Amino acid sequence: MSLRAKLAIFAVTSIVLVGCAAGGSADEAPLVQGRGIYGNSCSVCHGNAGQGGVGPALAEVIATFPSCAEHVEWVTLGSKTWAERYGPTYGATSKPIESVMPAHQGILSEEQIRLVVAFERVTYGNADEALTLSQCDITVNGSP
Ligand code: HEC
Repeated sequence: MSLRAKLAIFAVTSIVLVGCAAGGSADEAPLVQGRGIYGNSCSVCHGNAGQGGVGPALAEVIATFPSCAEHVEWVTLGSKTWAERYGPTYGATSKPIESVMPAHQGILSEEQIRLVVAFERVTYGNADEALTLSQCDITVNGSP
């Protein structure tokens, strides 16, 4: 094999290896990051597959919050501050607030909240992934 061919193979292999390594590090895909945040902060009440528990199941989350921004606001404020600010119901379906969903402001960063919200919308609400990432203002690696 010529030196040139060996170099070409080396170059291709390096690109593939670097590409794979990026997938498992800090630059994980947004929904993978969201899944991690969900597991740490939400699954204890909403179930590890979004099936519900102390908190409601998340299958109807798009009907509840057609807008990503409102979903983010709910998770940021939690039910108590939401009720103080907006009244005794939440979401487009005007669900009565009757239990405690904790605030996540100061616990999760603003970006982490957008990531976990996007994860819930796509994985449990069946929303389109690309549309959701754009609606939730999440930039994917490499794109502007
Ligand atoms: C301590 C339990 C608890 C934790 C932790 C929790 N939630 Fe909740 N969540 C609730 C409860 C309870 C409600 C319903 C509030 C009510 O009925 O007043 C709720 C409601 C919701 C809803 C509305 C769903 C619908 O369609 O009605 C969403 C979305 C949601 N939570 C997202 C999250 C996210 C995201 C996290 C993690 C960052 C999280 N929750 C963490 C208890 C919790």
